[in-house]
Amino acid sequence: MPAPSAEARRIRGEYFTPPPLVEAVLSRALPHLTPGPLTVVDPACGDGAFLSAAARALPRAGLHGLELDAAHASAARRAVPAGQILVGDALRGGWDALLRQLPAEGEELWLGNPPYNGTSPLLRDPVAYRALRERLGLDDALPRGTSLRDDYAFFLLLASERLSRRAGVLAWVTSATLLDAFLYAPLRERLLERLALREVVDLGADVFPGARVRTCITVWRSRGGPEPSPRFRAWTRGVGPLDSAEARPFRIHAPEWSFRPVPDEADRLEARWRAAGEPLDVLVPISCTGLKTRFDELLVDDDPERLVARVDAFLGASDLRAFTRAHGLHPGLLPKLEALRRTPGLPTRADPRAVRPFHRWAGARGLPPGGHAHCYLDRRLIPRGDHRLVGAFDPHAGHCKLVFNLRELPLAAALLEAPGCIPAHRHTRFAPLMIPERIRTEGPRAGRSGTPLGPLVPNLSPAGLAWAERVGGPREVFRRIARFIRSAEVQEVWAPAFGRTRVLPVPVRNS
Ligand SMILES: C[S@@+](CC[C@H](N)C(=O)[O-])C[C@H]1O[C@@H](n2cnc3c(N)ncnc32)[C@H](O)[C@@H]1O
Repeated sequence: MPAPSAEARRIRGEYFTPPPLVEAVLSRALPHLTPGPLTVVDPACGDGAFLSAAARALPRAGLHGLELDAAHASAARRAVPAGQILVGDALRGGWDALLRQLPAEGEELWLGNPPYNGTSPLLRDPVAYRALRERLGLDDALPRGTSLRDDYAFFLLLASERLSRRAGVLAWVTSATLLDAFLYAPLRERLLERLALREVVDLGADVFPGARVRTCITVWRSRGGPEPSPRFRAWTRGVGPLDSAEARPFRIHAPEWSFRPVPDEADRLEARWRAAGEPLDVLVPISCTGLKTRFDELLVDDDPERLVARVDAFLGASDLRAFTRAHGLHPGLLPKLEALRRTPGLPTRADPRAVRPFHRWAGARGLPPGGHAHCYLDRRLIPRGDHRLVGAFDPHAGHCKLVFNLRELPLAAALLEAPGCIPAHRHTRFAPLMIPERIRTEGPRAGRSGTPLGPLVPNLSPAGLAWAERVGGPREVFRRIARFIRSAEVQEVWAPAFGRTRVLPVPVRNS
């Protein structure tokens, strides 16, 4: 059988757990079991690494596995001859087949390293996704418009459902996004409702050869009996065995339900800044995500004249293949160009007034050298309307913007004192310094109303305006906000604790 491609491996999360890590997971789980009959289960068992370690450590336990890939399942059967290994898809019926073969008595030990792939293949299968959402009651658990994205999240919910009805322990390696990613706060909350978290080990980034993913171990116990505080340890590869990392008890708080302990100093700063100020998105009420042209090859260029000439030629071309050749565009772009030309209401000629500077902001790296280009900004050429122009409101037009990112580390911020657009870059946002009054009071949707938007006013809350009065104007406030975000206290203390999940409170009084 040919070896699977790196991409196929990534999608199926086929990264097998190195033996020392398997042993470490097992040894973290064992102290949480109570004596008696035991069934060990791995619902994504690969070649059987966890089940064979369990067979050695727990010779009397029953062993059950499920695996999507038939070849891996055969390898698991060879590695664990006493085990019962099913071939099946845990997220499309295989889970229930696995549960049906588990004995009714005793405790269960769920071990494993379920797939994590960034975006679950299930999200591209609406029928199966809907069925799983219904089964897991996700529509009630998740805020509207959010999804779980990653396979391991679905596996965890299924296993927690099981262990809310059966006594047992779960010890899994997963992506470390479980610990504190903003997206997974509802997942953490749901898991904490059902199970008692006992241990967390942050494994860092390089445990799996060939993958840079950050991973962790979490150990959970079904509810009932004493529930001591969970313990957290951060492990650094190469600095001694896992047990040598210091274990600290910690508490878990709403709203992020983070599984990382928060240093006291970060808690103190958060409380002080909150008391003396406002969250950044209240202080600066209007900010937008960056511009996504969806067609940079056509609509972005270092040279503004070449850009106008190219857009003009595109709009007038009778032969788009000849157009790609003449303008050095890859022939693979032809279908995209043809689709764009079919958009109703396109202009027939390019308008040089649509050209704007385009600042290739790169998050924490700021504006790299050569980061200045030009884009052609005409909403008719940006299908699906995914850009930041709402009716008559043009947030790109102003000459001063606060550029920053939210809920993503490292937190970055800069004051851009030049006209032009900021491209979409991960969680980058930009806030124009001056905005129409009605946009400030009613939000960007007021741009669609077709009625006058009022005079330009500073993009600041009343507390921000009072701050501006004291320090010499709104531009100075924007400068101070950028400096504050880049300060050592924010970068080194607040951001590691809260930067992925909270909006930064900015102290406006005494600043
Ligand atoms: C990260 S690997 C871990 C394998 C094994 N537990 C280990 O640690 O070595 C994940 C495994 O899950 C399997 N898998 C992926 N999606 C699955 C699904 N929906 N149902 C069952 N198994 C799945 C993959 O084929 C792969 O063997």
